[in-house]
Amino acid sequence: MSKITVIGTGYVGLVTGACFADLGNTVMCLDIDQKRIDGLHKGIMPIYEPGLEEIVERAYRAKRIDFTTDYAAALQSAEYVFIAVGTPSGENGEADMQYVEKAVKKIAETIDHSFILVDKSTVPVGTGDWAAKILQERFAETEIKFSIVSNPEFLKEGTAINDFMRPDRIVLGSNNRAASEKIAELYESLRCPILITDIRTAEMIKYASNAFLAAKISFINEIANICERVGANVVDVAKGMGLDSRIGPKFLNAGIGWGGSCFPKDVKALVHIAQEFGTQPQLLQAVIEINKYQRKHVVQKFEEIFGDIKGKRIGILGLAFKPDTDDIRESPAVDIIKYLTQKGAIISAYDPAAMELSKLVLPKEVSLYENPYQVVEGTDALLLATEWNEFKQLDFEKIHQLMHGNVILDGRNLWDPQSLTDLGFRYYGIGLGQYK
Ligand code: UDX
Repeated sequence: MSKITVIGTGYVGLVTGACFADLGNTVMCLDIDQKRIDGLHKGIMPIYEPGLEEIVERAYRAKRIDFTTDYAAALQSAEYVFIAVGTPSGENGEADMQYVEKAVKKIAETIDHSFILVDKSTVPVGTGDWAAKILQERFAETEIKFSIVSNPEFLKEGTAINDFMRPDRIVLGSNNRAASEKIAELYESLRCPILITDIRTAEMIKYASNAFLAAKISFINEIANICERVGANVVDVAKGMGLDSRIGPKFLNAGIGWGGSCFPKDVKALVHIAQEFGTQPQLLQAVIEINKYQRKHVVQKFEEIFGDIKGKRIGILGLAFKPDTDDIRESPAVDIIKYLTQKGAIISAYDPAAMELSKLVLPKEVSLYENPYQVVEGTDALLLATEWNEFKQLDFEKIHQLMHGNVILDGRNLWDPQSLTDLGFRYYGIGLGQYK
């Protein structure tokens, strides 16, 4: 079994560390945030991720995982050093590389033996070569040997453990094939396809994959908007398209747009990379624009329904950017609430996990409640923004009684239009020609 160090205890870092420990390796996780590390020693997870706590606890009890803020302690006997720190969006959409740079420099300063550096952070193409230069300069006069491998992460929030343990593929990119093969051994027990490429190609695969998925969603959202005009049903259109094995059924759910910690920043970063290298990525720019438009489209729909929405009471179910997470980064719900309040609508909202974080970003006048039924009381309209399981089977008779009006805008096409119409609601979906 191997000795692995993971730098960064965010989504990618902690899941990677915990899962490698679960597979039998000895893992040291480092973070510069002392509070995070203290919390982890006490079993407090810094992120909301189903199943993570159990895995971390199990590995901690078995002494296969530990946490530190001290680089020297973290790197002491590391064979493999994974970098999994954040690369947030900078001012112009570029990836902000300060955390990756600091991590590489700290490793260069501290480590005193040969190792393989593995990058899991999503980084601009060329970062691996940049890191190689830094390490080369540092170790030129020493016996220390190193290699760099790019190993992009494709995990999704909410299903991260399963995504790690049952990946569709592992991508390993390096200018030293033997190093990639060493890292491949760490994943051998997962029995999945392993693609070995050069380092720049691996870095590009991550951006291209996320951009493609975002494009797929923006595509179906554009089709949805056309369906609304021409009287077609986008859910069935997506089904019909998805049965073509060249297209596939996944990521074709029309809705109020994509958000989260990855798609928005990665598509913007790819646009930035393309422009930096002198090419105009027209499709990628359209993918971003359609996504911005989709949030405004929801507000337009309310305006079409009500005329003026000033003074209208709208209840919102869901604030997280998707179900099973408390993450509200780039969440469509948050933007839509901001637009609606700017236009004078009165907003009440509920989310099963994201209320605490939402308080920090929502306009002060938004009222947050403890359950869906409190949210809808006295409202003119109800908007479903995030398709949490707990919203699938609500008591709509009760909701009908509690509401003042009868408008439902189902932003994720979660509910059955006919049964809600039968109950007396005016039901609107996304891209549902008859329910527009
Ligand atoms: C994504 C990628 O899927 C993952 O591979 C990468 O490592 C990180 O970014 P994540 O951000 O966790 O993962 O969320 P994901 O489940 O991909 O959803 C992204 C957004 O797209 C959400 O806002 C979701 O609501 C939206 N979405 C997804 C749709 O609107 N329609 C769909 O059909 C699928």
